[in-house]
Amino acid sequence: MSKPVILTGLRANNDLHIGNYFGALLPTVDMATSKAGEFQVNLFVPDLHSFTTPIDHSKLAAQIDHNLRLFVAAGLPVHNPDVHIYRQSYIPAHSELTWILDCFTGMGEMGRMTQFKDKSAKLNEDRISVGLFNYPVLMAADILLYGAAYVPVGDDQTQHLEFARDIAARFNNQFGDILTIPLPVRKQHEFFGKDQGLRIRDLQDPTKKMSKSDESGKGIIFMGDDPAAAAKKVMGAATDSVGSIHYDYASQPGISNLLEIYSLLNRQPIADVAVEWEGKSSYGELKSSVADLVRDFLSGFQEQLAAVDSKALYAKLEADEEAMGTVARNTLHAVQKAVGLRA
Ligand code: TYM
Repeated sequence: MSKPVILTGLRANNDLHIGNYFGALLPTVDMATSKAGEFQVNLFVPDLHSFTTPIDHSKLAAQIDHNLRLFVAAGLPVHNPDVHIYRQSYIPAHSELTWILDCFTGMGEMGRMTQFKDKSAKLNEDRISVGLFNYPVLMAADILLYGAAYVPVGDDQTQHLEFARDIAARFNNQFGDILTIPLPVRKQHEFFGKDQGLRIRDLQDPTKKMSKSDESGKGIIFMGDDPAAAAKKVMGAATDSVGSIHYDYASQPGISNLLEIYSLLNRQPIADVAVEWEGKSSYGELKSSVADLVRDFLSGFQEQLAAVDSKALYAKLEADEEAMGTVARNTLHAVQKAVGLRA
């Protein structure tokens, strides 16, 4: 029996930030560390997803390389043979399966995706690419090619994960049991633990999520930020005029976001953190505690990043791309047979 697959990807459109780290990277690394042997873990760079909205292409190759290093710096146990890293565009089956699944996907279905609506609203019509429109199909292909059961992602990807389930079920209904349907989002949350930082907010505007495509960068803590500068961003975080601390996103989104970042960096359950700070009046004290944690975390992380062994990383990457290419080709072949492209 093959091992259940945990799989996730982080785009290379910009440096990763602590939201990406807490929402997807850390849970994957934690699983790869604690469940080694029981699961297969695939952590990949969805490089083809990186320019669904306009980017500076002269920086893409370096950013892809940087993301791979971030995976190692975050503690991914790359020596474990059940852990795989790869770049999506090096495995052509991703694009090929996407085309086939595109033909089983409705325009209306894609048009209803919240991310598409949000991102396209910010662009002039000629700049809204077809790639932005159908990227959930590519994401579904990323998941289905490897039969992934568990997909650690932040809240903003929930709808896309549901779509991956829908399209797999629809395909299986028509053609037989070919694709593995990932677990429902509720089960995913149970598996990964619910307080995993599913939606870290922007420090300047805590009503919206921290987002790497955000231009200003003032409310975002990037993994590559100078630690002292990042601490300053925390000190400048928007709060409220309530005057006392309560963990309640509805009335105190900025404070609640800071408490959540504190809990994640301190590896302490949010319920305990909420009790510890409940009713205190000094927002400054909370901010400086979070700022200290952020500064220490980034300093340690960046030291690990500088120590990544390039030779070992690329040897692993190339071996995994070959091995995962075979797995992906096998799934693609089964799909091609099902739709009548192969005898
Ligand atoms: P991307 O690159 O935008 O984000 C990477 C991961 O980070 C999570 N995330 C957050 N989590 C908590 N708080 C935030 N503020 C925050 N912002 C982002 C995202 O939910 C994501 O898990 N389409 C995906 C990449 C992808 C993928 C896949 C993921 C491509 N193929 C297959 C899983 C499986 C994306 O754009 O993520």
